[in-house]
Amino acid sequence: MGKVIVVTSGKGGVGKTTSSAALGAALAQRGEKVVVVDFDVGLRNLDLVMGAERRVVYDLVNVIQGEAKLTQALIRDKRLETLFLLPASQTRDKDALTPEGVELVMAELKRVFDWVICDSPAGIERGATLAMRHADMAVVVTNPEVSSVRDSDRIIGLLDSKTLKAERGERMEKHLLLTRYDPNRAERGDMLKVEDVLEILSIPLIGIIPESMDVLRASNIGAPVTLADARSAPAMAYFDAARRLAGEVLPITIPGEKRGLFGKIFGRRAA
Ligand SMILES: Nc1ncnc2c1ncn2[C@@H]1O[C@H](COP(=O)(O)OP(=O)(O)OP(=O)(O)O)[C@@H](O)[C@H]1O
Ligand SMILES: [Mg+2]
Repeated sequence: MGKVIVVTSGKGGVGKTTSSAALGAALAQRGEKVVVVDFDVGLRNLDLVMGAERRVVYDLVNVIQGEAKLTQALIRDKRLETLFLLPASQTRDKDALTPEGVELVMAELKRVFDWVICDSPAGIERGATLAMRHADMAVVVTNPEVSSVRDSDRIIGLLDSKTLKAERGERMEKHLLLTRYDPNRAERGDMLKVEDVLEILSIPLIGIIPESMDVLRASNIGAPVTLADARSAPAMAYFDAARRLAGEVLPITIPGEKRGLFGKIFGRRAA
């Protein structure tokens, strides 16, 4: 059975779709069979970021409403054999996703794929709760600023109460992915420090993705950044985050700082 991961945040525009595509591609680049599912009904961004927008014929809502089989809606990536996309619908009807329909689709995807990565819409409404409902693990995407951290805290509350795991009394594994981190702004004190975000949210850190033009360039050519420029700083940070998702233990460094994060925390404690 595959693992279901929800990429969620509460706040909009923090990098969920970018991260879903990059983590999905990074796992597929390791040979794992991956599907990224766009739950953002009405907006449909993931197909653009993955360069598949012209191939979309059927989508998640068509599958749920019985208008297409799952195999008809899945789009195989042009570059990676083991990476697939299940696009969102452009319908304006936000109720087009039903809990029963989502349950059937998720069950089928879990049987076929090693990883099912659900790109959540922003907010804490129905779309976001449906995207997290079947998750085994959550990646909470947060920018180092107060409003983003506050919304992530609300999402953590929902992950611990509104998911199937929570209803079964099981613990939802949650990981913090800090994105759009700018060392210069951090240095000037214009952004929250990594340690402060960790202290407020109190969930394990899975990666720090630097603010980078490489992300924009990748999105412009319709490729996840790990495929567009595998040697760029954001790509390497996403590769490491994907390895940590798969259970590897790797040291984390803060972009722009030489010492490792844990060394830094340890150093401070020891002082
Ligand atoms: N590390 C980064 N460096 C620079 N730009 C970034 C980075 N990550 C994301 N962006 C940019 O930020 C914008 C929002 O990213 P994205 O669409 O992934 O966010 P989102 O959380 O999915 O948004 P929404 O809530 O609307 O779904 C995009 O223009 C994207 O290119
Ligand atoms: Mg998005």
